Amino acid sequence: MSDHWKLSDIPWNRFEPGKIDPALLQLAKAASLVEQNGADYSRYLCEIFAGDAEFQAAARLWGTEEIQHGQALGRWAELADRHFDHEAACARFSEGYHLPEKPAGSKRGSRAGELIARCMVETGTSSYYTALADAAQEPVLKEICRHIAADELRHYKLFYTHLKRYLEIEKPNLLQRLLVAFSRIAEAEDDELAFAYHVANEREDAVYFRPRAVHAYLRRAYAVYRRPHVERGMTMIFKAVGLKPNGRLEAVVARLAWWLMNLRAFALEQGGLIPPRGYRAEKGRIPPAGRGTAIA
Ligand SMILES: [Fe+2]
Ligand SMILES: [Fe+2]
Repeated sequence: MSDHWKLSDIPWNRFEPGKIDPALLQLAKAASLVEQNGADYSRYLCEIFAGDAEFQAAARLWGTEEIQHGQALGRWAELADRHFDHEAACARFSEGYHLPEKPAGSKRGSRAGELIARCMVETGTSSYYTALADAAQEPVLKEICRHIAADELRHYKLFYTHLKRYLEIEKPNLLQRLLVAFSRIAEAEDDELAFAYHVANEREDAVYFRPRAVHAYLRRAYAVYRRPHVERGMTMIFKAVGLKPNGRLEAVVARLAWWLMNLRAFALEQGGLIPPRGYRAEKGRIPPAGRGTAIA
């Protein structure tokens, strides 16, 4: 997309160091690493959608936009913290966390499933960057997050358009669509984000302890959300799984999701009354970093 924004479109000269929120800086650093995985995800999608040249071209372009998100956030983080080296952090992140080189097949079982999973991710990122933009006081970060949030919404629409095409071909039922959506939600606490948070914010020689990293990441991330972000995300999810958006069921589920998110955020603030998934199983040992399970 030739009219896509560039790093030079960001008003870097409006940077105000006095308005940096340390928690948002930590989140921005972590996001700057995860976005760099766009190249790997793009390659993965091109493998899964072999023979669909139209989608492959769109996926390649999408991958470059995700990488640009990482570059913009990384550059901002370097401005905000002169000790942060984005390139070096990216190298450490990809050393510990990488996706399988050659996927054995679709992790979601079908192309429609892949597209539902992508819609879920783009819903998450669209809501997250909107929440970050709303929370940020520092003008340059606010502008970057607005640009990214607009992209993520457009990405959702892109994958949703292709999803409609594959729904006609593969005709998955509602249960199959819901299962993909739930499986993708469950992966939200996988290593990818937690490990990125660890690499971006801990000393280079610090040992990665997944439960601690998940806890540290989530307690900061959940704190930026407000109810409208969750409600808008729920509308997008309902559309992707084939449920009627903007109805009473959606209102109930959105209210429940907001309540659960608050409960989780409260628990994390109190030191983790509800421990992160896998806490008991992994307590007392160091899990291997970057298991590469969170494909799109
Ligand atoms: Fe992105
Ligand atoms: Fe995206």
